[in-house]
Amino acid sequence: MILAMTGKGGVGKTTLSALTLGWLAEHGEVPVLAVDADCNANLNEALGIAYNATVGGIRESARKEVQALKGVSKQEFLDLRVQAAVVEQKGYDLIVMGRPEGQGCYCFANNVLRDVLDRLAHNYRNIVIDSEAGLEHISRRTLLSVDYLLIVSDCTVRGIRTAGRISALADEVALPAKQRGLIVNRVPGGSLPESIAEAVKATGLTLLACIPLDQDVAALDADGEPVSRIPPESPARVAMNELLAKLYAVETEKC
Ligand SMILES: Nc1ncnc2c1ncn2[C@@H]1O[C@H](COP(=O)(O)OP(=O)(O)OP(=O)(O)O)[C@@H](O)[C@H]1O
Ligand SMILES: [Mg+2]
Repeated sequence: MILAMTGKGGVGKTTLSALTLGWLAEHGEVPVLAVDADCNANLNEALGIAYNATVGGIRESARKEVQALKGVSKQEFLDLRVQAAVVEQKGYDLIVMGRPEGQGCYCFANNVLRDVLDRLAHNYRNIVIDSEAGLEHISRRTLLSVDYLLIVSDCTVRGIRTAGRISALADEVALPAKQRGLIVNRVPGGSLPESIAEAVKATGLTLLACIPLDQDVAALDADGEPVSRIPPESPARVAMNELLAKLYAVETEKC
């Protein structure tokens, strides 16, 4: 299953992506590929791992180096470079997309890369995409074709309305996402105030989960520690685990 976390800036996409990856690894839903699709990449920090290369960097150098290649095909060249950029961890692998292209023609590099990423994706049972904030990537349709678009919001009326707009935009561009739903994050006490519940209703989105405001997440963040170290009983982790158990139970029944 391909899951994509989307939503406005700072709502918790990266945090919830990291918790999702932890759950998938723990439940043997492997192999898993984590895709950091935010050009200000920081999923690796939430996971406590380092990376050396990005797809954007490979695309940039491909424009220059591929011309000079003899013997090895351009496709193979990019395949090898992307393979080398995948960080292998216990439980999941990580690929960082990096910056979008600069000036000049990237058509060739992009076309080949799309194939390379597609083939890479086929090696994995599950993929989790941590998207960049806002609506840009949706309007440009740069996401892979996803099974579940998870629209994350903070616990504010404005945040929920933005989530509704993201959903409407996904419709407008006919985003290839089989299902979608709303996750409200950083909910004080874990249940929605009336005003927020009404705003959620107005979006027409299915409310998948309310993730509590969690002091353990805040403490790890304040200390610069990866959120993947969060204790098992932490409220945000427990709530995220419940959601994932539901999503994957439904998916398994369908198979
Ligand atoms: N449930 C939670 N409880 C407490 N703090 C949280 C929770 N979820 C996320 N946070 C905090 O909220 C902040 C934003 O989270 P995060 O970086 O995951 O958001 P994001 O949507 O990925 O942001 P960006 O749009 O910048 O990529 C971080 O400081 C994170 O620790
Ligand atoms: Mg993020």
